[in-house]
Amino acid sequence: MSQALSFSRSTNPRPASEQRRAEVLADPGFGKYFTDHMATVRWNTEQGWHDARIEPYHSIELDPATTVLHYGQAIFEGLKAYQQPDGSVASFRPEANAERFRHSAWRLAMPELPDEVFLDSLRELVALDRQWVPEQGESSLYLRPFMISTESSLGVNRPAGSYLYTLIASPAGSYFTGGIKPVTVWLSHEYVRASPGGTGAAKFAGNYAASFLAQAEAAEQGCDQVVWLDAVERRAVEEMGGMNLFFVFGSGADARLVTPELSGSLLPGITRSSLLRLGEELGLRVEERRVTTDEWEKKAASGELTEVFACGTAAVITPVGHVKHGEGEFTIGDGRPGELTMRLREKLTGIQQGALPDTNGWMTAL
Ligand code: PLP
Ligand code: COI
Repeated sequence: MSQALSFSRSTNPRPASEQRRAEVLADPGFGKYFTDHMATVRWNTEQGWHDARIEPYHSIELDPATTVLHYGQAIFEGLKAYQQPDGSVASFRPEANAERFRHSAWRLAMPELPDEVFLDSLRELVALDRQWVPEQGESSLYLRPFMISTESSLGVNRPAGSYLYTLIASPAGSYFTGGIKPVTVWLSHEYVRASPGGTGAAKFAGNYAASFLAQAEAAEQGCDQVVWLDAVERRAVEEMGGMNLFFVFGSGADARLVTPELSGSLLPGITRSSLLRLGEELGLRVEERRVTTDEWEKKAASGELTEVFACGTAAVITPVGHVKHGEGEFTIGDGRPGELTMRLREKLTGIQQGALPDTNGWMTAL
């Protein structure tokens, strides 16, 4: 898919001062601070994709009748740009984000942004905001492409006729405060995130809106994150709030790396698919299959289940140490980060930071 569209550039006359930028980069946290610029591209039924711009970061003004505020056609992506040892900047599999963004758009009856325009927006913004890319290490520049419907109309009998694609960028440290500390998770039996035939496999804003009540319940139970179960039986493990899940059964030469199969209601994570490949490269047996909460609890108790971790762009790889549900709780192994979890984490972050060879061609220069 290609469609030439060049971005007009209007640079920020009042960028953050060097001192301010240094303060932010010293402790960026996650999603709190934004760079000096943003990219936008518009779509409407008459012109298709048009009006591609890079502008100073600014507010978006919307008519109160704008459809996104009422009916919620809103999708997003999340990916990171990393400084490489030679000083260049590269992103991890951005083509896969472009493709998933198109899939999300399709599911929400929104126009599909050509991959080339998506990738160009990343290149253009990173070129201008290069100084916001953190130096080598775990920090990176988190890129957040999103799209909303912008038609002013309360009619709900058809998708909106106009849309705004926007890309913003935010320096990112670690997603969870406290570093690589295992998280405690809550199995959500009452609320579900997504159901068969629904929007769970799309990166749709409403999926996240639907998750906050359960996330608050998890926090009340002293847990860091919710684990979503299948909507029908509430037995099969699907994923977490912004992360996919992996299970390690056995250890040493017998270790198996297992992740819930793509059921249609969980997000096909790019980190997830990359780890399946890295697992194979480490000589592990890898499986995508149904994993039930019964299996999780029983095999954690018997010791057959040795490690559990969550993975995603924002969260990288985060060990899961402890599990709670309505009727009890249990610990995985000794509750500490597992050996394979940490090996896979080092491999993944090594490739992303350019410290290990990129044998799969996953890194794309921006
Ligand atoms: N699951 C959900 C619900 C997410 O929001 C994310 C984050 O994007 C993931 C999984 C992990 O996906 P990825 O590895 O592509 O970041
Ligand atoms: C990501 O990992 O990019 C996510 O989108 C997770 C979360 C911040 C929503």
